[in-house]
Amino acid sequence: MTAFDFNGRHVFVAGGSSGINLGIADAFASHGASLSILGRSQDRLDAALAQLRAHGGRAEGHSADVRDAAAVSAALQRAHQQFGAIDVLVSGAAGNFLAPALGMSANGFKTVVDIDLLGSFNVLRGAHEFLRKPGALAISISASQAFVPTPFQAHVCAAKAGVDMLTRVLALEWGADGIRVNSIVPGPIEGTEGIRRLAPNDTERQRIAARVPLGRFGRVDEIAGIAMMLASPLGAYITGVVLPVDGGISLTGPRDFGAAWAATRHGS
Ligand code: NAP
Ligand code: COA
Repeated sequence: MTAFDFNGRHVFVAGGSSGINLGIADAFASHGASLSILGRSQDRLDAALAQLRAHGGRAEGHSADVRDAAAVSAALQRAHQQFGAIDVLVSGAAGNFLAPALGMSANGFKTVVDIDLLGSFNVLRGAHEFLRKPGALAISISASQAFVPTPFQAHVCAAKAGVDMLTRVLALEWGADGIRVNSIVPGPIEGTEGIRRLAPNDTERQRIAARVPLGRFGRVDEIAGIAMMLASPLGAYITGVVLPVDGGISLTGPRDFGAAWAATRHGS
């Protein structure tokens, strides 16, 4: 067996119907895994399933909102019936918009905290009974806002900091079950919805790329590769880690999204 042979493995990806999370799902599907993906939009799930199946993996979709713990648990149970115990769980559903704290209602703040943080709790807690024990890996997809205070991102900063603390706490609590729990922290990844929201034009994107020590945006496959590494025998002793995969940008301090924000409807 090569390190990246996931034949017979079951990978469940919450938020797996687009972007970085779909890239992770696709990488595992292309290396033999069966995929369960969860998202709200059935159309988006269907398009993602066609891609995953075309790349060789068995794949099923589950339409649910991560804010709804019962719906998430029901999806996990169905996935367990379809493909058996979950070997790799990825929790990556998220929401984001640029707004200053004073331009954000309580419900606006709560919406992002509920999707990112409560949603991660629902996915991880709901999955525990269906994870392979020992041996399973849970990965939360975080963001540098978790540890780099970032203007116009109060909701995401608070939510992702919570996600990373959840990673560390569950690594402690679930280590005895043989479950590893880690966070991956992507940098700015080209062609994604997250970047379309934070850097909506070429000027903004160039400005951000210039801040990255490696001088460029990251690619989805560069995040997917690290997820596979963590899930492979190479990652067997890694747990409780918050791992930036970001070209070094989180070393460079707070980003200034002000110009981008000024161009949005809430900033005018
Ligand atoms: P994306 O394409 O918008 O993907 C978000 C996924 O989550 C979609 O599948 C979406 O499907 C699902 N989702 C959103 N809200 C949901 C909800 N309430 N319940 C269930 N599913 C929900 O985003 P992305 O830019 O690739 O980002 C993916 C992850 O990487 C996020 O965790 C993000 O914070 C993190 N990240 C991204 C970047 C970047 O450069 N893009 C940088 C750092 C971190 P539906 O809308 O159909 O539900
Ligand atoms: N500025 C300020 N507040 C905003 C906003 C913005 N740009 N966009 C939404 N909000 C507020 C709304 O006004 C609402 O608050 P209110 O009831 O006080 O008016 C609250 O956020 C919820 O909005 P709603 O549209 O009902 O939320 P939703 O649950 O349908 O969608 C979002 C959640 C807003 C995060 C939506 O953008 C989404 O689904 N995103 C998923 C994709 C994504 O963000 N990908 C990038 C990941 S990094």
